[in-house]
Amino acid sequence: MSQQQWSAVDGYFTDLLGPDDEVLRAAQRESDAAGLPPIAVTAHQGRFLHLLARIRGARRILEIGTLGGYSTIHLARALPEDGRLVTLEYAPRHAEVARANIARAGLADRVEVRVGPALETLPILDAEDGEPFDLVFIDADKDNYPHYLEWSLRLARVGAVLVLDNVVLGGAVLDPAAGGVRAQGVRTTLELLAKDPRLDATAVQTVGDKGWDGFALAVITG
Ligand code: SAH
Ligand code: DHB
Ligand code: MG
Repeated sequence: MSQQQWSAVDGYFTDLLGPDDEVLRAAQRESDAAGLPPIAVTAHQGRFLHLLARIRGARRILEIGTLGGYSTIHLARALPEDGRLVTLEYAPRHAEVARANIARAGLADRVEVRVGPALETLPILDAEDGEPFDLVFIDADKDNYPHYLEWSLRLARVGAVLVLDNVVLGGAVLDPAAGGVRAQGVRTTLELLAKDPRLDATAVQTVGDKGWDGFALAVITG
């Protein structure tokens, strides 16, 4: 099995099932042109996130790690007209590119990009005491995933879905010595998911355009 075959199948699924519209292509293009790292979810993975939000009937979505807003657009498109997505981004330049992409997608009325280290913006969000979130997508710095999981439990409702990107890291999850703080952050988070009585969780491995990786999925049960 090769990367080439994984990418070919991703292409086949995306061509057949979508989505691959001009708004999404433009978001990708503008992110690349601005020099953002090519680490957004693939079109196919974005579709997966979108469907999870639809299945959950999510009205309030929290994203940690915006980049150019590519996954944001997939997720926000699942919201009803009065729905809301808050996305947290450390790098002002990334947030700027994301805001333009989100506006071009016609989603500026539903999406708010907040700039700063998430560990500083999450407590602010908490203090605002808004409606709890129905879905949280965690996709920022992996070493802080354990903290992002704790904040998600604080900010999301019972029944909410949590999705965590990059829990396989090309297999480095099994080799924390080689995988460094990122692999260690993911492992600690998976252990928290496993033992927390408020959560039921699983993990799904993926191959495709972004190589070998995976998502952890959890539901808040109480
Ligand atoms: N979800 C995006 C990809 C996010 S990449 C997509 O699929 O389209 C990870 C992003 O997290 C980067 O833009 C990075 O700048 C941001 N990030 C890294 N550390 C962060 C932190 N401590 N707080 C908030 N954002 C952070
Ligand atoms: C990286 C981060 C991601 O969120 C991702 O999906 C792939 C790679 C990274 O920091 O290299
Ligand atoms: Mg990711």
